[in-house]
Amino acid sequence: MARQVAGFGTSAQVSSSTIAAGDGRASAAVPAGGLSFGDWCGLHAERAEQALAAALPTADTLPPRLHEGMRYAVLGGGKRVRPLLVYAAGELAGAPAAALDRAACAVELIHAYSLVHDDLPCMDNDVLRRGKPTVHVAFGEAGAMLVGDALQALAFGVLAEAADHGTPAPAVVAMVRELADAAGSHGMAGGQAIDLASVGAVLDRAALEAMHVRKTGAMLRASVLLGTLAGGLPVPARRDALVRYAAAVGLAFQVVDDVLDVEADSATLGKTAGKDAAQNKPTYVSAMGLAAARGLAGRLRDDALSALAPLGPAARRLAELAELIVDRKS
Ligand code: IPE
Ligand code: IPE
Ligand code: MG
Ligand code: MG
Ligand code: MG
Repeated sequence: MARQVAGFGTSAQVSSSTIAAGDGRASAAVPAGGLSFGDWCGLHAERAEQALAAALPTADTLPPRLHEGMRYAVLGGGKRVRPLLVYAAGELAGAPAAALDRAACAVELIHAYSLVHDDLPCMDNDVLRRGKPTVHVAFGEAGAMLVGDALQALAFGVLAEAADHGTPAPAVVAMVRELADAAGSHGMAGGQAIDLASVGAVLDRAALEAMHVRKTGAMLRASVLLGTLAGGLPVPARRDALVRYAAAVGLAFQVVDDVLDVEADSATLGKTAGKDAAQNKPTYVSAMGLAAARGLAGRLRDDALSALAPLGPAARRLAELAELIVDRKS
């Protein structure tokens, strides 16, 4: 039975034959025709869940506590936005379904690791994540640090498996480079460093954008590009359109995260609301106010949609995801 994706429409029933569709082309493995967007999200979130459950070591494998912590950090929670972007971009590119599963796992594993470390006492010091006690609360600080380390390594191992599932080797190499760039000091880790260095500071629009595109935008961009590359190296015009789309959606995602930190409650978010103001973090809301931040997110959604225009109706799922990322409530 598929899991309900919070705020992401209704879930779909997924048959085991669909999940096990192996190396079939994505469009053949998951019959997209006629699926509502909510059902499409439910189907693919469940697909990602099963792929992650299979990729993670079982909790009875040595060292069991570390593996238990890794599974705790990753499974049974989260909106799975990044895997959904992988699947949407990958279906557009006609990528093999099993290769997309690997790419979807890779981006979600990096994301889950980033959340584990983001919540540590030395970073945002948060006790609630995805509706559960954070990993360091449940497994200790050293345990959480190692869970993050191991999830990051696992992400690259799983991604490399795309080569065994129909993605040409040069495209797999490009995927590894994209993910490394997105996760590293020029991407997520770099953005997190800027975030921590900016506590109490007033950042101008350019500095705020430079932080957000790294800490959050880079991984969303990687999700779109990994899905695309799973189908082989794209022609430059197509890649350019997708990069423009991903840049807009990636920034919009963190602008909305900043807005929800103010507007939503902890129960809805599954994480502590109001943390940014409490910790004196510069955000789009602190810089420009709620209404202007919402307005910016709307303009970024429009940018994302116009970037997709040359790709035609086949890019429908990416367009729907842009709408969802801006309109989400959690
Ligand atoms: C939260 O990401 C952290 C940011 C990068 C803004 P998500 O809102 O995607 O968190 P989950 O995966 O749904 O828990
Ligand atoms: C975190 O941004 C971005 C990451 C790279 C994890 P936030 O610190 O705003 O994320 P939340 O609000 O705790 O999910
Ligand atoms: Mg943070
Ligand atoms: Mg945080
Ligand atoms: Mg936040």
